[in-house]
Amino acid sequence: MTRTEPRSAILGTGSAVPSAVVTNDDLAKIVDTTDEWITTRTGIKERRVLEEDKAASDLARLASERALENAGLEVADLDAIIVGTCTADYQFPSLACVLEAKLGAKDVFSFDVNAACSGFLNALSVADMFVRSGRIRKALVVGTDVLSRFLDWQDRSTCILFGDGAGAAVLGVSDDDRGILSARLQTDGSYAETLYVRAGGSKRPATVETVENREHSIFMNGKEVFKVAVRSMEEISRRVLGEAELCVEDVSLVVPHQANRRIITALAARLCIPMEKVIVNLHKYGNTSAASIPVALDEVRREGRIAAGDIVLLNAFGAGFAWGAAVIRF
Ligand code: UT7
Repeated sequence: MTRTEPRSAILGTGSAVPSAVVTNDDLAKIVDTTDEWITTRTGIKERRVLEEDKAASDLARLASERALENAGLEVADLDAIIVGTCTADYQFPSLACVLEAKLGAKDVFSFDVNAACSGFLNALSVADMFVRSGRIRKALVVGTDVLSRFLDWQDRSTCILFGDGAGAAVLGVSDDDRGILSARLQTDGSYAETLYVRAGGSKRPATVETVENREHSIFMNGKEVFKVAVRSMEEISRRVLGEAELCVEDVSLVVPHQANRRIITALAARLCIPMEKVIVNLHKYGNTSAASIPVALDEVRREGRIAAGDIVLLNAFGAGFAWGAAVIRF
């Protein structure tokens, strides 16, 4: 197949997680749970929680600086900053604008995309469009979330699942065969209230009552999310592979969203991809939402697990419901 338009490639990655570790045993002291339940139902052993005096943009800044360093580029080389997050520092302006100032970037445009756990894939896909269209040459793509600030620490069904983190990738024009071969996004808004934060938005602004009712933290029907997640990620993964004219056997590595080990193993089984090719790091960080894919991608890159020419499949699923997948040749 002849290529008619430029492709975008990941030129560097970086990540950052808070230093404070919260173990399952720590959680068992505050809610009625056990390390055994959390481990067998989710695979999570511990998660990181951001210091009180820090915000999502602080983690994003660290991850971004590391990605730029890995790419051998300066902030001045960037044309755009696109951040996937649902836990920005403020209701507005965007975290991307706050990050832009923290990085000292000039002459860029920056904005957030909110697709919850699929945030990084959405941001990557948008950045890919800008690069491929020729409008920009280099974009910083970030996935960051600090869900610890939106958890009900009395609700054992949700507070055990999430952690904080940030991951970043620098995207630029590819001058060879490397790059994003296909990316696809999908949503089904009829599930909006299956996984959401009830209050704090325009529908139900903060009042004494909403705070007293603990409506500013995550509500989730976990079973429903689980079921739709596996099915949807399998479908969209097959579609992006098909669009890239590849089959599952061509995949060197899968970097899935890290929500639950059982979701990941079920997905791998349905795709007939052996678990040796599937990256799982949720035992260390829990579900870091938009950060989970770029954090895992950065870890495997630093561990030297991605070789030139490798085909890497990314897939995510989260609130919305919003899901997506991308297939990249490194
Ligand atoms: O990124 C996307 C966002 N979220 C997800 O992807 C999450 C998807 N869902 C899941 O990962 C799973 O549904 C959970 C891990 C959230 C729950 O696992 P489950 O196997 O679906 O358990 P369940 O909700 O059906 O609960 C089973 C039992 C219940 O007790 P009863 O009613 O059977 O007596 C719960 O009350 O486990 C109880 N339970 C717990 N027990 C100990 C729920 N949470 C806990 C807990 N410790 N932390």
